[in-house]
Amino acid sequence: MTAVAASRLITVEINGVTYEHEVPARRLLVHFLRDDLALTGTHIGCDTGNCGACTIHLNGEPVKSCMLLAVQVDGASITTVEGLAPDGELTPLQQAFSEAHALQCGYCTPGMLMSASALLERNPHPSEEEVRIALQGNICRCTGYWNIIEAVQRAALSGGSA
Ligand code: FES
Ligand code: FES
Repeated sequence: MTAVAASRLITVEINGVTYEHEVPARRLLVHFLRDDLALTGTHIGCDTGNCGACTIHLNGEPVKSCMLLAVQVDGASITTVEGLAPDGELTPLQQAFSEAHALQCGYCTPGMLMSASALLERNPHPSEEEVRIALQGNICRCTGYWNIIEAVQRAALSGGSA
């Protein structure tokens, strides 16, 4: 029987910073981000791939970080919600969320922002239906979907991407 390594050294770029980290083989990416790197903007709402609160960008694509092992992102480039506005200034999308009251408790907001910003990157002028489809993997338990969709469309109208 082949022995499985208990941990592995990975190198990953996150929000423009390169990290080299020894990670246990079974560590979920979301736990690596939150517990090892203190990037707690990425939330955990279910741990089963249903809610989308843990959404990040992996090599530019939105993915649920509770569905990946940290060792799987060795060599990858990641953006978390902290990376959307590295200089502390809200992006047009974040500004639109604020103006359209697109959050209540805010728990789903990081995941919504990551899914929506990925949409706007590939499609700067999405229809309402395209916004709904892009956000279908993100659950808002405060049921603020209408305002969230409005915020994404406002950001698109303002010409803002991320
Ligand atoms: S915590 Fe990952 S989808 Fe819910
Ligand atoms: S704002 Fe509360 S879960 Fe979406």
